[in-house]
Amino acid sequence: MSRVYNFCAGPAAMPVDVLEEAQRDLVDYKGSGMSVMEMSHRGKEYDAIHNEAVENIRKLLKLPENYGVIFMTGGATAQFTLVPMNLLGPGQGADYIVAGSWGSKAAKEGKQVGAINVIANTEKDIPTRMPDLATLKYTPGAAYVHCTSNETIAGTQMKAFPQTAVPLVCDMSSDILSRPIDVTQFGLIYAGAQKNLGPSGVTLVIIRKDLAEKANEKCPGFFRYKTHLDENSLHNTPPCFAIYMLTLCTRWLLKLGGVDGIARINRDKAGKLYAALDASKFYKATAVKADRSDMNITFRLPTEALEEQFVKDASAKGMKQLKGHRSVGGIRASIYNAFPVAGVETLIAFMKDFEQKNG
Ligand SMILES: Cc1ncc(COP(=O)(O)O)c(C=O)c1O
Repeated sequence: MSRVYNFCAGPAAMPVDVLEEAQRDLVDYKGSGMSVMEMSHRGKEYDAIHNEAVENIRKLLKLPENYGVIFMTGGATAQFTLVPMNLLGPGQGADYIVAGSWGSKAAKEGKQVGAINVIANTEKDIPTRMPDLATLKYTPGAAYVHCTSNETIAGTQMKAFPQTAVPLVCDMSSDILSRPIDVTQFGLIYAGAQKNLGPSGVTLVIIRKDLAEKANEKCPGFFRYKTHLDENSLHNTPPCFAIYMLTLCTRWLLKLGGVDGIARINRDKAGKLYAALDASKFYKATAVKADRSDMNITFRLPTEALEEQFVKDASAKGMKQLKGHRSVGGIRASIYNAFPVAGVETLIAFMKDFEQKNG
């Protein structure tokens, strides 16, 4: 077996133990004679997998009873529309804190549904940064406030969350379960699974139950959170195999000591990489220090030609997908939960060598 260090921003590296377990059980799941892909979503084997996924998420996020777990499809992108469809009452608007292209996309889609006020926007700022939460002016009567905890392209991360009188909605696609959070600060959290939770195809939604209860009744049934909450995400056929993989990933995370355990490892990985960047005059981190993401480490080299060479040479040495997002260029090392410490150390050694040869 030969595995590369995969720095992809998503779909991202998965724990090898999880992949191997799935491989062992792929054709005959625990003596059932079937693959999880072939099972009824209403049968007892799948039922156990599904309920363990819910339970593991509840444990990892320390969810209080008044919060529900929903598995949906359509990625975080579908949530950009579903959130306002559900949470905006007639004539109501919402406030959006935009810190990069994902927040901007969420606001743009929200505007198709209702009156969205962008109350802060740092999308175009260089160096990249999060808005200053202390200066935010909320709109009276807004139904909710929306934010993005980690801007995957800009390489920025909210270290604290806004204190809002109305429900706070957060797109946590690129840092969910990577660090401890107090869920009770939020009315709704959503995240595509393909970075920290498992493969693409399943989207996690955490919702305060009263919000699901009073959501807009005009919203068609399938698109209502309440429908999926009431039916334990089995209203229609769920993405069973993706949920099975999420079960294995969350089990792996629990074994590592849960969110506290993985947060220590994540801090260590990101800390080492930022220290290497700060110690060099050749590389330049692109985000302001206070807002640096522990998940997506973005940086530049002196020229675009050198960046191209860097990506090419790294790839030849088994470090893949280091090219920054096409909209911003530069280099991006995505080091989510499953990305190994050894991969970060290998990258740092390569960076030193590349600087020596080209600096
Ligand atoms: C923060 C954030 N939000 C939303 C998305 C879009 O997610 P999806 O492709 O699951 O719709 C991404 C994808 O990278 C993301 O990083």
